[in-house]
Amino acid sequence: MCGIVAYVGTKEAYPIIIKGLKRLEYRGYDSAGVALIRNNELQSFKKQGKVSNLEEFASDADTSGSIGIGHTRWATHGAPNDTNAHPHGSESGDIAIIHNGIIENYDSIKQELLRKGYTFKSDTDTEVLCYLIEDIQKNTGVKLGESVRLALQQVHGAYAIVVMSKNEPDKLIAARKSSPLVVGIGHDGDFYLASDATPIVEYTKKVVYMEDEEIALLRPGEDMKLYSIDDVEKTPYVQELEMNLEVLEKGGYDHFMLKEIHEQPRSIEDCFRGRLNATDAWVSLGGIKDYEQKMMNANRIIMVACGTSWHACLVGEYLFEDLARINVEVEYASEFRYRNPIIDENDIVIAVSQSGETADTLAALELAKSKGATILGVCNVVGSSISRITDAGSYTHAGPEIGVASTKAFTAQVTVLTLMALSLAKKKGTVSDSKFRNLISELEAIPAKVQRVLEKNSKIEYISEQYKDADNALYLGRGSSFPVALEGALKLKEISYIHAEGYPAAEMKHGPIALIDEAMPVFVIATKGTSYEKVVSNIQEVKARKGKIIAIVTEGDEQVTAIADHVIEIPETDEHLVPLLATIPLQLLSYHIAVMRECNVDQPRNLAKSVTVE
Ligand code: G6P
Repeated sequence: MCGIVAYVGTKEAYPIIIKGLKRLEYRGYDSAGVALIRNNELQSFKKQGKVSNLEEFASDADTSGSIGIGHTRWATHGAPNDTNAHPHGSESGDIAIIHNGIIENYDSIKQELLRKGYTFKSDTDTEVLCYLIEDIQKNTGVKLGESVRLALQQVHGAYAIVVMSKNEPDKLIAARKSSPLVVGIGHDGDFYLASDATPIVEYTKKVVYMEDEEIALLRPGEDMKLYSIDDVEKTPYVQELEMNLEVLEKGGYDHFMLKEIHEQPRSIEDCFRGRLNATDAWVSLGGIKDYEQKMMNANRIIMVACGTSWHACLVGEYLFEDLARINVEVEYASEFRYRNPIIDENDIVIAVSQSGETADTLAALELAKSKGATILGVCNVVGSSISRITDAGSYTHAGPEIGVASTKAFTAQVTVLTLMALSLAKKKGTVSDSKFRNLISELEAIPAKVQRVLEKNSKIEYISEQYKDADNALYLGRGSSFPVALEGALKLKEISYIHAEGYPAAEMKHGPIALIDEAMPVFVIATKGTSYEKVVSNIQEVKARKGKIIAIVTEGDEQVTAIADHVIEIPETDEHLVPLLATIPLQLLSYHIAVMRECNVDQPRNLAKSVTVE
């Protein structure tokens, strides 16, 4: 979390930084700040809250200058207030720094600096690093780049930093370890820096994704210089961005989340395009082709993830086990990594992550790798850390997801896991040819069916109106609809702040049933399939206690329709693919309820999209 942006060149830095920070607000919005150098003077503007607060705060100030750094914060060390906002300054105020990550040993460094007589202004780990850089300069007389390098040698933890000094006002020093950092090489000898490429794409498509423990020195009009933390010069690997500016705009929708929900027919299709063919009966995921034999022979496959991506893994577990008959375990990355798990070289660990930067997921992969397991990735963000450390993987191709609550990334993850399961099942011979062909045709038909679900928007909005004031909600499902229930509950709680729980429908009677009364909406996925009759019984149990039932049913359903308070029909499909359709109305319900409760849909309180802290 935390987003960083910087610019050095001939243009005005402030508007570039502000625009970039707005694109990165999904990474945190506890405070925002910018520092600029003008006429050899360093000036900072910092404000608690969103970037718009900062803009307002600085609206009458002189914000000119062609070198600057900016930050949008998700608080870790220290409360989210103006003082703890970045950029942070050194004791003399000559140096300014922005930082995404955590300096784990900041306290011991701070104690040492306190002993030397320094006094600190904020509670942050970042300020300590800035003081250390200045202290090294004072003691050794080295230039800024060298003092940053020496300081980083003392640091444990994660960082993406950009540093500038009014004493060397023509350069930015940037470095990363574990937190992402991209350098954009401008057309006019200028440079852009950001946590991801979205603030950069508007100005240049030439980028360098910095690697761990690399330090960059950027001076306008000169080539980018890159060094390792051990001071070995490296050649930057310049890549061409494929992203367009249009995908970063709201495109007429009120919120990014709504836009992203509506993009799903296209994003699911983009995800399977070129990867399957129903007529010739094949599925092929180029990225993992060479690892499929290993996956088939593996003791088990462990899927690790966090949040919504963890729910996608649970759907994946059903698909891999049922279709390909491969033993799968799904783990929260944060639990897995601290549990001393039993893993060896016969295991395969698949990390599923939209951002490809989630710290716990990354660390879980590193652990698995150190124990000899093969590590694979399913990521959305191209070039992300997870996609780079894995042995192989498949991108989800959902396009940039800006809304903090994940929607299209989830359905794309489920689509990739479906393709993987199908490909393995075909190779293992665990599905018949006709079943295989049928599943592929059904998958190809999903985008059009998702579109039909989206067309139910007005009805879903009407239902949302009925339940917008609820304090609690329950989501029930069985089989692969259980993770859909979990995901529905997560969507509601994260954007509308209504307490919601997802449960396997049959487990309701072991506790949650005690909560049911006439004020409790119960959302049930009750589509036709193996457990349909059982789910109908669970619905009866809720009705008997006066709970309100909102059921997702298969088109033409009569039984549930007769007893539920509201039904939302979804087109019929193969049972394995139901999650791709049943998720859509739950996303829309959460969206509308959040809008009606006047919540900030795209940037819910306390959350961030890319969780780069543990
Ligand atoms: C945060 C986001 C979620 C996301 C989770 C995992 O909590 O708000 O939407 O599912 O992180 O992120 P990842 O990028 O690894 O999928």
